Amino acid sequence: MKYLLMIPGPVEIPDDILVSFQGQPVAHYGPEWAELYLETAGRISKIIGSKGRTFLMPGSGSLGLDTAAATFCRSKRCLVLNNGMFGERLYNIVSKHTPDVEVLKFPLNIPVDQDIVNKTLKDKKFDAVFMTQVETSTGILNPAEEISKISKENGALFILDAISSAAIERLEMDNWGVDITVTASQKGFECPAGLGIVTVKLSLLDGLRDSPGHTWYTDLRVWCDYYDMWHDWHPFPVTLPTNTIMALAKSSQIIETEGISSRQKMHKEISSRFRKAISELGLKLYAKENQCAHGLTAVSTDGKFEPSELIIFLKKKLGIQISGSFGEIKNHVFRIGHMSRKQCLNVNFISLLNGIAFFMKKSGINASIEKAIDALIE
Ligand SMILES: Cc1ncc(COP(=O)(O)O)c(C=O)c1O
Repeated sequence: MKYLLMIPGPVEIPDDILVSFQGQPVAHYGPEWAELYLETAGRISKIIGSKGRTFLMPGSGSLGLDTAAATFCRSKRCLVLNNGMFGERLYNIVSKHTPDVEVLKFPLNIPVDQDIVNKTLKDKKFDAVFMTQVETSTGILNPAEEISKISKENGALFILDAISSAAIERLEMDNWGVDITVTASQKGFECPAGLGIVTVKLSLLDGLRDSPGHTWYTDLRVWCDYYDMWHDWHPFPVTLPTNTIMALAKSSQIIETEGISSRQKMHKEISSRFRKAISELGLKLYAKENQCAHGLTAVSTDGKFEPSELIIFLKKKLGIQISGSFGEIKNHVFRIGHMSRKQCLNVNFISLLNGIAFFMKKSGINASIEKAIDALIE
């Protein structure tokens, strides 16, 4: 069961965060707990560039997306931008809350096209636009800043799935005009899974409770009621996974001390070196380097081998876990996650590169491990 997790979430958790997670759970209420919760939520808002309110919800990223759609999109006209499996999931979620939802599909191996989105929003009025910042099934980085601005210009809310991008990619929620950002604990924040994290622009919360909701757990009206009513001791409606929140408290403190821009820079530099190493090994990136996300890399096998054979070899023989992909690219793409500081250690990359090279050589494919390691540690 225990493998080196080189997958795009959940991630290898650095020791400085793991120690905060381990240990006896504490009560999820009382003044000390309320303070820790509110401080942690406030730091998350800052890290993603917002003065808005962050809600830490027991669940996963999808719960956060469901919450955003349940709270703000009931019976609204919504547009979902889809260039991969998680764009598809956004559509599935949003369509549970409104029948009036359209999807704009884009090719899998390129980012969402701003001109097409602009034209679509000019041709027809939408109340809200949904998009993934990083489409994790392909490793593509979508233009969140630009799409947010286009949505604003056309009078639509912009709701961003930042599950694979927060604390990794540039994200300036308020400056870009993003209205709602959803993320989760188990990726860039280097924590165990267990929290959907929703950040909302404050003005959207004003007046929210004038209209009724149609869910309970996933309705931020309910979360706002508890925030106001029980603010000093229990500012949320349900029992929380206190260990995961303590890990997130630590993670957000570490990022704050380090500075979010230096964390983003670290991911940019390391992912670029890792991708050079992959190319030197003799493999092709699935997407163009300048369109790739910085917390994972999708690699094309170019028909030379089945991704599943490599994945099984690495797991069974070397104890390293990487991921496959989905749908039409399933048989020729595999994915490697480098979202946490621990995943980004050279020692882990070198084990992985050696494993891939060994597999390629055994399959009769040339692989230059020396050049790959040179590129990694240059
Ligand atoms: C972009 C994106 N959206 C949504 C999800 C779903 O998140 P969760 O599995 O935490 O519900 C993921 C998970 O990998 C993701 O990468």
